[in-house]
Amino acid sequence: MPPKRPRLFENALLALREVPAPALRVTCTREGARVRAVVEDNGPGIAPELLPRLFQPFVTGRKREGPRPGTGLGLAIARGIVERHGGRITAGRAESGGARFEVELPRAQTVMAAASLG
Ligand SMILES: Nc1ncnc2c1ncn2[C@@H]1O[C@H](COP(=O)(O)OP(=O)(O)OP(=O)(O)O)[C@@H](O)[C@H]1O
Ligand SMILES: [Mg+2]
Repeated sequence: MPPKRPRLFENALLALREVPAPALRVTCTREGARVRAVVEDNGPGIAPELLPRLFQPFVTGRKREGPRPGTGLGLAIARGIVERHGGRITAGRAESGGARFEVELPRAQTVMAAASLG
């Protein structure tokens, strides 16, 4: 099986399929002991009714009968992974009107910092 694309990119590429000038922008910044990655696209944006429940399992905007049905698990799994690494993931609207995701993570985990000391 080919490797699966990162879930945020997979979602963005699907959202951009019908967009005439698709753009996906990833910005990473270091903020003290944390790093922030912003993933933004210029697609249709996240449906407002999904936004409050977006990271819950089985919440999907892709219809079962559509060409690429979704299970609604991607973002729930992504949040689980990020939070287990001491981070946060949030969703909102980009200036372009598309989707914007922010992933914030500690640059080092306590256990790794402890290991490197000794
Ligand atoms: N970049 C995006 N632009 C617009 N809508 C988005 C974007 N990313 C996610 N969404 C919306 O959020 C829903 C939930 O995404 P999630 O990745 O959790 O599940 P899914 O993509 O539907 O299914 P899968 O389990 O295959 O990932 C999507 O169905 C889509 O409606
Ligand atoms: Mg997905």
